[in-house]
Amino acid sequence: MTTIGVLTSGGDSPGMNAAIRAVTRSAIYKGARVVGFIRGYRGLIEKDYVELDTKAVSGILQKGGTILRSARCPEFLEEEGRKKAVSNLEALGVDGVVVIGGDGSLRGALELHRLGVRVVGIPASIDNDISKTDMAIGVDTALNTIIRAVDAIKDTASSHDRAFVIEVMGREFGYLAVVAAIACGAEYTIIPEAKLNFEEMVKNLLKRYKEGRSNSIIIVAEGAGTAYEFAQRIKDRIGFEVRISVLGHIQRGGSPSAFDRLLASRMGKAAAERILSGKSGIMIALKDTKICDVPLMEVANSKKRLEKEFLPLAITLGI
Ligand code: ADP
Ligand code: F6P
Repeated sequence: MTTIGVLTSGGDSPGMNAAIRAVTRSAIYKGARVVGFIRGYRGLIEKDYVELDTKAVSGILQKGGTILRSARCPEFLEEEGRKKAVSNLEALGVDGVVVIGGDGSLRGALELHRLGVRVVGIPASIDNDISKTDMAIGVDTALNTIIRAVDAIKDTASSHDRAFVIEVMGREFGYLAVVAAIACGAEYTIIPEAKLNFEEMVKNLLKRYKEGRSNSIIIVAEGAGTAYEFAQRIKDRIGFEVRISVLGHIQRGGSPSAFDRLLASRMGKAAAERILSGKSGIMIALKDTKICDVPLMEVANSKKRLEKEFLPLAITLGI
């Protein structure tokens, strides 16, 4: 009987559980045995795992977080740690591993593949910063969480004639900030990819105040600076009273959206089927609504770029 392992690694994202469930059930459906490694690559190094049968993954589809826990594992960055993981997999009779995680976790998956382990990756990160896939698992849910929060903030901002600087996640990538700005009708979005004309922003916000607009919303990606820093710089210059809100890890939790449940289910099934058919060194991707696979090497060697239309769209509609 073939045995496959599954793990979740790096920053968690809503829909990871739905992916674990899909990998497990699809593999069992094809006659395989499944084990789940605990806390990502740490579970491989410490031989920490649980048996996953169809019952073990019941009732998790709608739950945020990951039942397998997630972690960053510095030991796995070292060759010695990776070799230990490989020998443990051999000792446990595991024929292949499905890695569910972000950019870094998928680099780890590529390293495992290079050491001869059969590996398939599934992209999961709220940042949508993983290249070669249109969407990663968790992005849609995070966006919905942000939108709900910004809508609520807008209500109170309007009552008090205030401007809010709202900080969202995105260490290196402004996807969440710019898409949230479009979807929430924010006046400004500040992202790492684009140079901000600060004086022009101040002028336009002051103009809005003088026109008698009830509020102004500025969404900043954490990689571009802090909400506090921008609020300090604009207060006393734009008419509106200024407040800040840092959404933080609320964006990483919560029940996955219908989109993420479906994406995770599709990707999980595809990953299980590919690994059982002997494929390795690939990541399951979403391209133009279709599920496909791409070499992990291509994912590691390219950088995701923001869709060209997003920033101009946010700017055009934010006037
Ligand atoms: P994410 O997967 O969310 O991007 P990290 O970048 O922190 O999160 O990566 C998660 C884990 O993946 C790391 O703690 C490490 O164990 C492993 N990893 C990341 N990059 C590499 C790499 N280049 N080689 C081997 N393992 C890596
Ligand atoms: O990688 C996803 C992400 O949500 C980033 O946007 C954020 O900077 C980071 O994780 C925070 O992760 P943690 O608090 O787990 O270190």
